[in-house]
Amino acid sequence: MPSPDGLPARRAALNILDSVLRRGLTMEAAAGAAASLADSDRRLALAIAGEAFRRLPEIDGLIDSRTRQRLPDDSKARMVLRLALAQKLGLATPDHAIVATALPLVDGGPRRLVHGVLGGLLRSGIAPSAEPPLPPAVEQRWSAAWGDAVVAAARRSIAARPPLDLSFKSADDCTAFCAATGARSLAPLHARLDEAGNVAALDGFDTGSWWVQDLAASLPARLVPEGARQVLDLAAAPGGKTMQLAARGHDVTALDRSQSRLTRLRANLERTGLAATIVAADALAWKPDSPFDAVLIDSPCSATGTFRRHPEVLYRARPAIIAEAAALQARLLDRAAGWVGPGGSLVYSVCSLEPEEGERQIEAFLAGRRDFRLAPAQVPVAGIAPTGDGWLRILPGMLGDEGGLDGFFIARLVRA
Ligand SMILES: C[S@@+](CC[C@H](N)C(=O)[O-])C[C@H]1O[C@@H](n2cnc3c(N)ncnc32)[C@H](O)[C@@H]1O
Repeated sequence: MPSPDGLPARRAALNILDSVLRRGLTMEAAAGAAASLADSDRRLALAIAGEAFRRLPEIDGLIDSRTRQRLPDDSKARMVLRLALAQKLGLATPDHAIVATALPLVDGGPRRLVHGVLGGLLRSGIAPSAEPPLPPAVEQRWSAAWGDAVVAAARRSIAARPPLDLSFKSADDCTAFCAATGARSLAPLHARLDEAGNVAALDGFDTGSWWVQDLAASLPARLVPEGARQVLDLAAAPGGKTMQLAARGHDVTALDRSQSRLTRLRANLERTGLAATIVAADALAWKPDSPFDAVLIDSPCSATGTFRRHPEVLYRARPAIIAEAAALQARLLDRAAGWVGPGGSLVYSVCSLEPEEGERQIEAFLAGRRDFRLAPAQVPVAGIAPTGDGWLRILPGMLGDEGGLDGFFIARLVRA
């Protein structure tokens, strides 16, 4: 029998779902399996898997409402049903296409069961929730750390499409872009479009006037003092913050241990015509010849703050991964502290909503380094202000009427 159109994309989506959930791979690594697909199929596979991660507990609830015995989490039937329902709830795929591409995926398996559950749910007219639950372990963690209102805001955020944020090299280009496109600017050198669309087709992409960067991700570099001449961007790739710093005229050293991510950093610098000294090294082994006026550590982390665009992080960031990231962060902070000259600044950031990677990290650092003190993290964004401790804690729900921003923790420390 000929396979229905779109089947390769669904097979690849099944692979991605399985690789992330069972093997703990990143979406990027998992998508490697789809590399041989046509571009449109690959994009579709990623979109389907992404929607499944966005609504997994909601989808599982629907499946469980239709089976007498709970299907095991890793059963093929559940995986296929998850993908099918993700298309219904998140992508408005027509029912006939959903059924036609789901059933061949369980050939030789529980086809009748899948057909029955899927057919029943599709006929019942299911609709996406505006506040789909997050994985229970994440809700428990975030409720304990930030309270139930933040969990409710996170549920709303994961259901919505995040806006597209751009960072600009020049204020004039930013103003002209906003005037031409109707984009809003929530900070200097920032423009926000409500719909992402085709980024490469936007005005100014070819000329390198801007790069894509969530508003929250643009805040750490804004805390590097204007007067700092030599700046080390310690975990730099793919270079969003390096470009901000270079555009401001700092003399930037961009260090990262990942060659493939540095290739993207180089391409970004080339497209934008900005310059930095690139160092491919492990920060735990490298050391500079002389101290810097400022060091920015945009540290590797669990990345749970990016759950709106990368909902799969909520499944990958298990407690062991968070603990491992926190241990690395402590080592990076400890090492980089010695590279900050007297009176210099150390800016620390993580796109994480886990206090172990943010607040607890800086508390522990300050307890051991009496030569550093916190400086208030003031940024030029209405509605974003430092906490009583002086750092920035960006949570779901903040700037909610404007489309929100990624979860982040950012602190600026000054050396005596
Ligand atoms: C959060 S990302 C950085 C994002 C980047 N600052 C930006 O704005 O585009 C963290 C980076 O840390 C790098 N990294 C992880 N461990 C490292 C280490 N021991 N030494 C140097 N870089 C490391 C990773 O390769 C990754 O590119």
